[in-house]
Amino acid sequence: MRLIDFIKIAVKDYKKVGAVTITSRHTVKRVLKGLKPEYKYIVEYGAGNGVITQEILKTISSDGKMIAIELNSRLFKELSKINDKRLKLIHGNVIEKSRDFSRFSLPRVDAVISTLPLSLLNKAERKELINNTYNGLADGGRVIVCQYSLIILPAFRKIFKKVKYSLEIRNLPPYFIIIGEK
Ligand SMILES: C[S@@+](CC[C@H](N)C(=O)[O-])C[C@H]1O[C@@H](n2cnc3c(N)ncnc32)[C@H](O)[C@@H]1O
Repeated sequence: MRLIDFIKIAVKDYKKVGAVTITSRHTVKRVLKGLKPEYKYIVEYGAGNGVITQEILKTISSDGKMIAIELNSRLFKELSKINDKRLKLIHGNVIEKSRDFSRFSLPRVDAVISTLPLSLLNKAERKELINNTYNGLADGGRVIVCQYSLIILPAFRKIFKKVKYSLEIRNLPPYFIIIGEK
């Protein structure tokens, strides 16, 4: 997908897409650094056009598996062009899909990657999503969140064993990368 097409979709549907452009390669690199080498089963929330998805697929083992969830129909169509038998795509709302991690049919979930615009969700939805994600993760698993704000930090500190974050300024706008480990 051309960058300009992503931008057009993002502008038209800003309240849901929550970005002005795709995630930068610098941010993607930091997300990848947050994955432990032994992680095999990954879930991605709000995969967009697959800019992070494709890079994760390059790093996980040949018997690994990845689930990518996306709400926007045009972006989902774009994601469907990724040809990798380890990838399963789910078209729908992450909040609803996160209620039952068994639907992913994975032996466990080692990591959840999220670029969802969490600040555009209401407080109850955010709380539910964080709790569902924590409950669905394996022990020692991580959630890696890219956000323009630290709005989720207090909630993460309440439930995750370890929490750390960094700022990637080479992103438009700059992203906080927040990692919670169970
Ligand atoms: C900030 S964009 C990031 C897109 C892509 N992952 C990237 O890094 O460039 C957030 C994505 O989450 C999707 N999204 C927003 N709310 C969602 C929801 N409730 N369920 C599933 N996807 C959602 C948007 O359509 C958009 O593709």
